[in-house]
Amino acid sequence: MASFLYHLKSLYLLSFLSTFVQPLCHVHERSYLLQFKESFVMNMSASSDPWAYPKVSSWTLQEGNNSNCCSWAGVECDELTGHVIGLDLNSSCLHGSINSTSSLFHLVHLQRLNLADNHFNYSQIPSTISNLSKLTYLDLSFSAFTSQIPLEVSQLSKLSTLNLSRNKNCGLHGFIPSSLGNLKYLNFLRLSKNNFEGHIPSSLGYLIQLSTLALNSNNLTGPIPFELANLTQLTQLFLYYNTIKGQIPFGLMNLTQLTLLNLAGNNLSGQIPSSIIQLKNLEFLDLSMNYFSGTVEFDMFVKLKRLTILHLSYNQVSLLISETSANRTLQKFQQLGLSLCNLSTFPDFLANQDKLEWLELNVNDIHGQVPEWFWKMSKESLRVLSLSYNFLTSLGQHPVLLPWTRLAILDLRSNKLQGSLPIPSFSTLEYHVSNNSLTGKIPELLCNMSSLQHLDLSENNLNGSLPQCLHNFGDSLFILDLRRNKFEGSIPQTWTKGSKLIVINFSQNKFQGWLPKSLAKCIMLKVLDLSNNQFNDTFPSWLGKLPNLKILILRSNKFYGPIRILKEKYEFSSLQIVDLSYNNFTGRLPLILFQNWNSSKFDRVDHLTYIQVESSFIMENSPQSYIWILKYNYSMTMTNKGVDILYGKVQEIFTALDCSSNRFAGEISESIGNLKGLRLLNISNNILTGHIPPSLGNLVELESLDLSQNKLSGEIPQQLMQLTFLEYFNVSYNHLMGPILQGKQFDTFQSRSFEGNSKLCGRPLTKKCKNSKALPPSTFEESQDSGSPFQIGWKIVVIGYGFGLVVGAAIGHIVTARNPNWFMKTFGMRRVVRGH
Ligand SMILES: *[C@@H]1O[C@H](CO)[C@@H](O)[C@H](O)[C@H]1NC(C)=O
Ligand SMILES: *[C@@H]1O[C@H](CO)[C@@H](O)[C@H](O)[C@H]1NC(C)=O
Ligand SMILES: *[C@@H]1O[C@H](CO)[C@@H](O)[C@H](O)[C@H]1NC(C)=O
Ligand SMILES: *[C@@H]1O[C@H](CO)[C@@H](O)[C@H](O)[C@H]1NC(C)=O
Ligand SMILES: *[C@@H]1O[C@H](CO)[C@@H](O)[C@H](O)[C@H]1NC(C)=O
Ligand SMILES: *[C@@H]1O[C@H](CO)[C@@H](O)[C@H](O)[C@H]1NC(C)=O
Ligand SMILES: *[C@@H]1O[C@H](CO)[C@@H](O)[C@H](O)[C@H]1NC(C)=O
Ligand SMILES: *[C@@H]1O[C@H](CO)[C@@H](O)[C@H](O)[C@H]1NC(C)=O
Ligand SMILES: *[C@@H]1O[C@H](CO)[C@@H](O)[C@H](O)[C@H]1NC(C)=O
Ligand SMILES: *[C@@H]1O[C@H](CO)[C@@H](O)[C@H](O)[C@H]1NC(C)=O
Ligand SMILES: *[C@@H]1O[C@H](CO)[C@@H](O)[C@H](O)[C@H]1NC(C)=O
Ligand SMILES: *[C@@H]1O[C@H](CO)[C@@H](O)[C@H](O)[C@H]1NC(C)=O
Repeated sequence: MASFLYHLKSLYLLSFLSTFVQPLCHVHERSYLLQFKESFVMNMSASSDPWAYPKVSSWTLQEGNNSNCCSWAGVECDELTGHVIGLDLNSSCLHGSINSTSSLFHLVHLQRLNLADNHFNYSQIPSTISNLSKLTYLDLSFSAFTSQIPLEVSQLSKLSTLNLSRNKNCGLHGFIPSSLGNLKYLNFLRLSKNNFEGHIPSSLGYLIQLSTLALNSNNLTGPIPFELANLTQLTQLFLYYNTIKGQIPFGLMNLTQLTLLNLAGNNLSGQIPSSIIQLKNLEFLDLSMNYFSGTVEFDMFVKLKRLTILHLSYNQVSLLISETSANRTLQKFQQLGLSLCNLSTFPDFLANQDKLEWLELNVNDIHGQVPEWFWKMSKESLRVLSLSYNFLTSLGQHPVLLPWTRLAILDLRSNKLQGSLPIPSFSTLEYHVSNNSLTGKIPELLCNMSSLQHLDLSENNLNGSLPQCLHNFGDSLFILDLRRNKFEGSIPQTWTKGSKLIVINFSQNKFQGWLPKSLAKCIMLKVLDLSNNQFNDTFPSWLGKLPNLKILILRSNKFYGPIRILKEKYEFSSLQIVDLSYNNFTGRLPLILFQNWNSSKFDRVDHLTYIQVESSFIMENSPQSYIWILKYNYSMTMTNKGVDILYGKVQEIFTALDCSSNRFAGEISESIGNLKGLRLLNISNNILTGHIPPSLGNLVELESLDLSQNKLSGEIPQQLMQLTFLEYFNVSYNHLMGPILQGKQFDTFQSRSFEGNSKLCGRPLTKKCKNSKALPPSTFEESQDSGSPFQIGWKIVVIGYGFGLVVGAAIGHIVTARNPNWFMKTFGMRRVVRGH
């Protein structure tokens, strides 16, 4: 009736007073609005919506402008009374603080208030919000509020929508007030993506009109309160990414209106209740990354006829898929996450699926051949396919070009695949097939994959030379990993400008010949690993131009000649790990490579970060989007502490120079002392002469120092006592003389470290020093100023040993650890859910 009247009225106004449709606003409310406007600055970066614009800049009283605030952008007035009843200023670039005295809270007729996607400068939600007692709609999401939810919010008893989500930077925190249970008309309650902690209040069970409850991505603990079973109108329940524990309360299975249930990434345990079949309307179910256990009958999900998105990955369940499921499964799934579900065969029912977009069958126990029907499944829809970490031996009778035309991600890592390299659709962005037993050459067809970003063929038996067309995907490719295959021949010449390559790993193949100078066009390059090949070239000094090159590994090739580079301030300016070992380099020790060494940059780096490259693919989907993320950890082999170590991951702060086993000659320059921050220095097995420079004592981060098998003479300088992190020290087989340093870390080195120097004496060698020139450490300490490193006691030295290099976890141990997050890390892959 009211709307009919309004309609009449509008018609009347339109026909007779067509310039004056808006009700006139109240002067005092207009001034409240203007005051509110004045309390902020407009800043485009305060909103992140691409369509954001400063709505309030049109609010003005200037001559000629419309002074009727009811017609201002974002303002809504009651047609009859003219009071401001709605304020929709979402994404309006408002930047500034807001407090209890804000004129906003004088607009007491407000029913709808939307301030989402602005920047309120980490204000608290003002307690005077309770003045707006007529509010039915309140959205303060994504607008940089912090602190706790004021209890006054619970006095807004007419609210049907309350959205305080995504105030993540700083974020809303504290407990979720149980008084929110008073808001009995709430339909939508979103508190997701904040830092709330504590239990989910059981009083939420009073909100019996709720249709959406989103508490995801907080730090909530405790069980899911059984009182939520009262919320019989609930259609969407988001509790994912918290640390909620306990079992799923049975009552939850009475919420038959539910279309979406997302409990992923919690600590939930117990059986997945079979009464889940009562949730007849369920379309979306994500229980992944919990500790659910026991046997789960897939038929149970088949009975949920509307279910199209099902994620069970990374629990401890065994999924039983009966043979008859194939005939019973009528629904067409869009997404199936069945990683680590103890599957031993390809589920037959997949044969009938033609709408699948996302399929994870990785980390299961599937042996043998990929069945023929698999190649016909969801040909036109599949975008993400992961079969990694199984025991597949063959892809069976597959066409050379895999059939999925829209594929974006293909993950076949860590199987036992034999035969030739399959080529996925040309649209594929990421192709991972490392750690298999594939043979044969790379088909030219691969070069047609012009969108490829990440190509990992490492650890196979592929051979032949690389197709010359490899540069085709230069424009999108950023990781190219061909490590540990049997590739031969030379590297294609045609690397092009505009290349986005960050990592090139050709190590452990049989590549020969020269390095193509066009590699210097890969201007983004951070890692170049050419180790264990047969490259026969001089040092690639032309790589010095690459501004980001951090890691250069030429180990074990036939590189030769002296190392000469330009003496300029940008040459090799980012270099931090260089391995030239086992080549035929000559001339002076190439300290010049580090002429632009800047140790202070490591001060800011977190010790726990690794050199890795992240790639991701967003699978847009309503109501939740999924992201495929893969963290590619650069791995390498280096000689450290006398043994070859495979670093599965490399810390960002790791710094190393290995020039061992070449023919470097001459003296070690004192300038070596400038390489502060260096952790590993190996110059063994060269023909270096002269003394050990005392400046080596400046490299206080050194953990491993190998000077063995040279022609070094003189004494071991006292200054090396300063190397308190030194864990490995080797000067064997030189011409050193005099007493071995005593005390601190030097007490831990064995005689192996010193042997083959006929004139060295003192512990741990058996030869005693004649007229003990060796100063006891205490004498030495006394000679120092207070505050010198020598005040550091023995205890700290021992602790220092702990800080060494963290060698990445070997994939082999996967079976022992059960923590879901651990799985995510180990398999380099996780799914993140967007939205809400
Ligand atoms: C806009 O906000 C950003 C970040 O909040 C800030 O860095 C910038 O200085 C602001 N610009 C103005 C003009 O206030
Ligand atoms: C209205 O105000 C805006 C902003 O102050 C100004 O840019 C515009 O020119 C004014 N319009 C008229 C008609 O004066
Ligand atoms: C902001 O408003 C626009 C249009 O009014 C709407 O499309 C968008 O979803 C709103 N965003 C939020 C966060 O409320
Ligand atoms: C945000 O708050 C800080 C102090 O907390 C203040 O210095 C700054 O000026 C404020 N920024 C704006 C845009 O109000
Ligand atoms: C509230 O903010 C206004 C400016 O927006 C400021 O003048 C006033 O002092 C603040 N009041 C309190 C209690 O912080
Ligand atoms: C809020 O309401 C109280 C009384 O209900 C009143 O005293 C106060 O001035 C109001 N505050 C604002 C900012 O309107
Ligand atoms: C659940 O609903 C019942 C009946 O409607 C009511 O008596 C009870 O108080 C509610 N409990 C909670 C915690 O909401
Ligand atoms: C979450 O809570 C746990 C304990 O309740 C705490 O150890 C952890 O630091 C919290 N995490 C964050 C991000 O607040
Ligand atoms: C669930 O529904 C059944 C039957 O409708 C009822 O007996 C039971 O009490 C309900 N459970 C809860 C926890 O509400
Ligand atoms: C599935 O249905 C087909 C045809 O209806 C039938 O031949 C086959 O035996 C059925 N398979 C199973 C396992 O029931
Ligand atoms: C390197 O290549 C040159 C020819 O370019 C050849 O003469 C030389 O023998 C090669 N060296 C090695 C160690 O293979
Ligand atoms: C190193 O080079 C010299 C001469 O340049 C050659 O005699 C020697 O065989 C080379 N060694 C290796 C391992 O290639």
